[in-house]
Amino acid sequence: MVLETSTILTAALGFLGAYGAYVWLNAVSTAYKLRHIPTIGSSGIITSYIDAYRYLSRGHEMIQEGYKKFHGNAFKIPLMSRWLVIVSGPQMLEDIRRADNDLMSFDEAVKETIQTDYTMGKHLRKHPFHIATVRTPLTRNIAVRFGDIKDEVQAAFADILPQKDDWTAVPALGTVMQVVVRTSNRLFVGLPLCRNPDYMALNIEFTIDVMQRATKINKYPAFLKPIAGRLLTKVHENLKRMLRHVGPMIEEQLEQERLYGRDREDRPNNLISWLLEDAPEENRTVEDFAMRILTINFAAIHTTSQALTQAIYDLAAHPEYIAPLREEVENVIQAEGWTKLSMGKMRKVDSFIKESQRMAIGAVQLSRKLLKDFTFSNGLTLPAGTHVAVATNATHMDENIYENPHEFNGFRFLNMRDEDGENIKHQIVSLSPESLTFGTGRHACPGRFFAANELKCMLGFIVLNYDVKLPDGMTRPESSWSQGRIAPNNTAKVLFRKRQD
Ligand SMILES: *[C@@H]1O[C@H](CO)[C@@H](O)[C@H](O)[C@H]1NC(C)=O
Ligand SMILES: *[C@@H]1O[C@H](CO)[C@@H](O)[C@H](O)[C@H]1NC(C)=O
Ligand SMILES: *[C@@H]1O[C@H](CO)[C@@H](O)[C@H](O)[C@H]1NC(C)=O
Repeated sequence: MVLETSTILTAALGFLGAYGAYVWLNAVSTAYKLRHIPTIGSSGIITSYIDAYRYLSRGHEMIQEGYKKFHGNAFKIPLMSRWLVIVSGPQMLEDIRRADNDLMSFDEAVKETIQTDYTMGKHLRKHPFHIATVRTPLTRNIAVRFGDIKDEVQAAFADILPQKDDWTAVPALGTVMQVVVRTSNRLFVGLPLCRNPDYMALNIEFTIDVMQRATKINKYPAFLKPIAGRLLTKVHENLKRMLRHVGPMIEEQLEQERLYGRDREDRPNNLISWLLEDAPEENRTVEDFAMRILTINFAAIHTTSQALTQAIYDLAAHPEYIAPLREEVENVIQAEGWTKLSMGKMRKVDSFIKESQRMAIGAVQLSRKLLKDFTFSNGLTLPAGTHVAVATNATHMDENIYENPHEFNGFRFLNMRDEDGENIKHQIVSLSPESLTFGTGRHACPGRFFAANELKCMLGFIVLNYDVKLPDGMTRPESSWSQGRIAPNNTAKVLFRKRQD
């Protein structure tokens, strides 16, 4: 028995040793292949781990330093499990935008950022038809379903933030999240489910859970990730809880579709119907659809809640914008009512949110993994396997691109629209090398049209019905940073009261 244990131990140590040597050799050879790229921090095999540790909390500062020194070119930063190469400038961005999928993979990069296989499940990543669903049928139905969106925004605010004459301090992010979950799910699954407390909680918790688990898993070096991932996964529990809520509804709709097909009068116009437009036969199962609805919620809630929270902080910190925004919303609504078309006419609201997002972007986004060696048009070559990303905050804060970039100018994009005589170029949903909030090219956020309409409806509703300010003596709550990602202050309170004038 004693002998056996020690044999196993020796074998295990031998295996670990061999594996360690393999990992180390791998690190040496990758560092060697990237030796022509300047490093922020240390490029020593051991010392680079110290900088990888620094990246967890100070990544944004390292990227800022790199952008200053190497703008329009590349630099690299050590992460726990690999190197990250960061590029900037319109030309390199254009190279990324144009690169084919089999050259630069968006999916492989996302897989590592949010550890999709462990946090959501592998088959979703391998068969991502729900992305097409969000891009086309969902987007197409925003106008038709806008009445529901507006109704839920109104009902959610009435429940969560009753209009009182006295100032009330509420935590911005927590409040906004409730409204976003309800509104998004009014569109996805309708009443009454979108107001079910456990369903709402699940979708909010899942979002936070995925990010926290991914962050944890990403702190481990590559060879420990599969173990960490399996220990940290919660996909099955989440799916079970989701099935309790949406299971019967999906089952009913799948059954009706099988029996009567698409052209029936009482066919619901919801996310399940839209998924049915894209789902291959073998994925028309209750579990598959439930997981996709959860995943779409993941993509919708986190991002939109953070964006609205940042916009509310900016509004409270710059109260001079309330009157002009209010006037615009009032005029548009009087003339048109709450429709998707009227959202398109809220140019000041659009500009305000876009400016808020300009200043609240992560330090590094638009990640891609190279599947083959790639040469940028400036001649720089990177080897297959390299992770590339764009210095996004630094781009949005570049004074060669934006005048007084450190100043919040809520009507910056409105003015640019007026000057350019160009009506579509500087909207929230417009993509450009200067405006990276929604990414670039064919991998730009497929939900951006819904997100923008929902955000404008919510912010429009707020300025129309509430006065907003920061508590006395408080400045705009600062964002926090982790691994180059940004998040709005998640505890700060903002004061609301029923609109007085
Ligand atoms: C974002 O960019 C601006 C301008 O370069 C810089 O002042 C700010 O510190 C950056 N923020 C972070 C957290 O990198
Ligand atoms: C979806 O379909 C693919 C084949 O296209 C299959 O491999 C996968 O397991 C299916 N997922 C589910 C949950 O049924
Ligand atoms: C968030 O804002 C509050 C003030 O409302 C402050 O006390 C807290 O330190 C801030 N948190 C972060 C992470 O900045």
